[in-house]
Amino acid sequence: MKDLMRIKCLLSQEVETLLNQQVKKEAQSSSLYLSMASWCNQNGFDGSADYFMLQAEEERTHQLKLFKYLLDMGANAISPEITNVKTEFAGFRDIFEEALEQEIAITQSFKNIVGKCHKEMDFVTIEFLNWFLKEQREEEYKARRALELFEVIGEEGTGRWQIDKNVGKITYSEI
Ligand SMILES: [Fe+2]
Ligand SMILES: [Fe+2]
Repeated sequence: MKDLMRIKCLLSQEVETLLNQQVKKEAQSSSLYLSMASWCNQNGFDGSADYFMLQAEEERTHQLKLFKYLLDMGANAISPEITNVKTEFAGFRDIFEEALEQEIAITQSFKNIVGKCHKEMDFVTIEFLNWFLKEQREEEYKARRALELFEVIGEEGTGRWQIDKNVGKITYSEI
């Protein structure tokens, strides 16, 4: 089969690499959240299991959005290999702490890419990435609110049961 070479990729090699790394990070997030959903389900936290299933689906959407952008820009989009997905968690609260840490790390990762794009004056990619910066504002908010339920409700007695029932009700609105 004849190789169809792209005439020109519209991204620098560095930005292309960073975006491919981000594709992988979103896939890793998605896999991590699926693991969390499984743990929650097996430990009787059905509401949280549903919450993490939804998060996993969102991360998959993010992965595809980045992947499609790479393709649209004539770059080599790489389907990532995801290994060593965590399956053991110390406890219910630990899962939400880790979920928040994950979102903070992802926000930082996007900031690094946008910083690089600014240096290169890649305004097209900056415009594309603005959607993700806004999305991270929402993702971090929800992860923080979820963790705060442990402080507000407390884990004693029926606390965990109540936390589990309320996790899915967290919503974010700009106004
Ligand atoms: Fe994401
Ligand atoms: Fe996320």
